[in-house]
Amino acid sequence: MKAGLEGVVAAETVLTHVDGARGIWWLRGHALDELIADHGFEGAIALLWEGFAGEALTREQIRSTLGAARIAAFERLPAWLAAASHRPLGDAMRLLFAAIPEASTPAAVAAAVPVGLASLLRAREGKPPVAPDPSLATAADFLRMAMGAPAAAPSIAALDAYLTTVIDNGLAASTFAARVIASTRASLAAAVLGGYGALTGPLHGGAPGPVLDMLDEIGSIENIDPWLEQALARGDRLMGFGHRIWKRRDPRADALKATLRRLGPDAGRIVLAEEVERRALAALRRRKPDLVLETNVEFYTSLLLEAIGLPRDAFTPVFALARTPGWIAHALEQQKTGRLIRPAAAYVGPRPQPRAA
Ligand code: ACO
Repeated sequence: MKAGLEGVVAAETVLTHVDGARGIWWLRGHALDELIADHGFEGAIALLWEGFAGEALTREQIRSTLGAARIAAFERLPAWLAAASHRPLGDAMRLLFAAIPEASTPAAVAAAVPVGLASLLRAREGKPPVAPDPSLATAADFLRMAMGAPAAAPSIAALDAYLTTVIDNGLAASTFAARVIASTRASLAAAVLGGYGALTGPLHGGAPGPVLDMLDEIGSIENIDPWLEQALARGDRLMGFGHRIWKRRDPRADALKATLRRLGPDAGRIVLAEEVERRALAALRRRKPDLVLETNVEFYTSLLLEAIGLPRDAFTPVFALARTPGWIAHALEQQKTGRLIRPAAAYVGPRPQPRAA
């Protein structure tokens, strides 16, 4: 038995190929750089949904379908959502996912997230929601709805590159959760709600906020080594490092770093972050010489989303926005197999005692 199912192949997929030993990531046969440059988020959705969500749609068709779906999502935005903005964003996001109607189409599910998240971010500043512009792609419209004004072109390009980079990654814990739920023939809305729950933990998509907390606490180049040594001596995990599958450098981390650099030579706190990265990798190698612990996608996610101007507690929700079309594709792929996912457990508890005569 493998406690964390590592190495267990639990599904066949045509969606993403993740070969962590060789550092390979493809989506439907497209490498990441090509996907970012030539397809973008809507193009990646078109590729992922092909053959699963009705007739195949082009990137432009996905863009207009999602635009129309954002308008519909805005019109049925539940009134209580504004009230939910008084809660921590993570609580409000669970309510947002739970509010997606049971019979929603893939586009309706995917569109509900940017509209709902942008509205929550506005509502907690006491501002009214901004109606979607269906002519825009998701990245541009989300930033516009969240910030109340059109975003600068470099920020839109950077967010589109981020959404494209993290849209899918094989059987991540959240994707597996979504597939398990879909395998019971539950709705897509139920599958993404479960996927979101699994994403939020710090061992998965909850890491980017804590990466910035770490950089804040370190604060200066001189403090890097003492801070890292103390954290590792306490047995803490360094956020933004290590991965179950990636045993070479995750190409997505490099793609995000390149995207960050395109925002400007001093985008975010890149000088301190690069030095923390270099020394953290060295410290992890010293402490765990038998393991390969590399930078994961969350390290540069945190810097990139901060440089775009998004608040720290929105990082995991924005990750969910990006990953929802991936969960949808996997849920549909799982349902196509018609097979319920239901593994077995080895019972190691007590046995019944003989009853007294
Ligand atoms: N810092 C310190 N030690 C670590 C780290 C880390 N970031 N990652 C792994 N280790 C140690 C573990 O403590 C464990 O040691 P032990 O056996 O002495 O208890 C050992 O390395 C386990 O290594 P793996 O088997 O490679 O790790 P696993 O597959 O169990 O976990 C995970 C992967 C959860 C991502 C882990 O590396 C981690 O907690 N990283 C920090 C959190 C993080 O960055 N999460 C985001 C992941 S990316 C994503 O999901 C989008």
